[in-house]
Amino acid sequence: MPAITLTGVAKSYGGGEHAVKNLDLTVPDGAFMCLLGPSGCGKTTTLRMIAGLEQPTAGTIAVGDRVLDSVERGLYVPPEKRGMGLVFQNYALWPHLSVRDNVEFGLRMRKVPAPERRARAEAALKMVHVDAAMDRYPSQLSGGQQQRVALARMLAVNPSVLLLDEPLSNLDARLRLEMRAELKRIHEESGATIVFVTHDQLEALTMATDVAVMNEGELQQVAAPMDMYDRPANRFVAEFVGSPPMVIVDVGPSPAGLAGSLLRFAESRLPECSPAAVGIRPEALRLGPPPGATWCEEAVVEAVLPAGSSWTVRLRVLDTELYAVSYTPVEAAPGDVVTCWTERMHLFGADGARLSAWDGMGAVA
Ligand SMILES: Nc1ncnc2c1ncn2[C@@H]1O[C@H](COP(=O)(O)OP(=O)(O)O)[C@@H](O)[C@H]1O
Ligand SMILES: [Mg+2]
Repeated sequence: MPAITLTGVAKSYGGGEHAVKNLDLTVPDGAFMCLLGPSGCGKTTTLRMIAGLEQPTAGTIAVGDRVLDSVERGLYVPPEKRGMGLVFQNYALWPHLSVRDNVEFGLRMRKVPAPERRARAEAALKMVHVDAAMDRYPSQLSGGQQQRVALARMLAVNPSVLLLDEPLSNLDARLRLEMRAELKRIHEESGATIVFVTHDQLEALTMATDVAVMNEGELQQVAAPMDMYDRPANRFVAEFVGSPPMVIVDVGPSPAGLAGSLLRFAESRLPECSPAAVGIRPEALRLGPPPGATWCEEAVVEAVLPAGSSWTVRLRVLDTELYAVSYTPVEAAPGDVVTCWTERMHLFGADGARLSAWDGMGAVA
């Protein structure tokens, strides 16, 4: 299956505000692409346009050389002729059909002969590890098993593109974790191209080969998960990806307090940059004696919040409250004065775009 290409795609419902604006996006063949962004940013609309369930108001959608939508040419291919499989958040299995019959249902619709139907349903149920429950009814399954059956129903049809809209959001934390690993395995085994919609940045980072971040209908950045985390394109992505979020301090023309301290340091190391804001990830803010000539300031510990495997510490640094996350036990107690330091700062321009980062050695992209 060749790449899916969206060019200049826009969508407005009933002529109102644009839900998706001028979107240029390529989903490479075999990718596991997550569309990530807050509620209402246009993820579902984008997915439904790829599926053919919504028609764009501008632009072109193509798979390789095959144009599926072209507003200019008045071209539109209906969903059933696109060879794509869809799973939504509400996976709606037929309650009166057994698991096996639910999975065979789509194949029956496509007039696949009975013996082949049976074999393909069994293979798909094996792939999602619910083959042992094949003869049960949906009401006899857990939520996670039902979700897997919905996936199997789609996999049995063997589409080369799977479109998934927040399919794990109804599951509890443990099942969600399990299904993430499962989906990753299915992606690797099937070689299918997956477009997965989520508002959960962790879900995107853990599963995707490529992440596309959207905000208010506009694409912000497309990158591999770790690149997105290390090199966010702008303030929106920097704050949306990573948890707890990056702390971004605005530096005015003559900043005082923490802003002044950060700006003086940034300018001493990266004189060619004049940032409008400086960001530090909480997990990059460290406590204790700094290892060398790095940025450091005295901080007052305001609260220590243990979370099992990590500790979140609320600090007052000069005039500002900051959070630090530590993966080793924190000895400090509220009221203690400690030194905080970092070896990684992100610098942003006045338009919010990321200019550069300093990583203890010098400028990095
Ligand atoms: N059928 C519809 N009619 C009118 N407006 C819609 C419709 N579907 C979505 N929208 C609007 O389009 C915007 C994007 O929605 P959606 O694509 O569902 O976002 P997301 O999936 O990222 O939460 C929102 O402002 C939403 O209210
Ligand atoms: Mg949605």
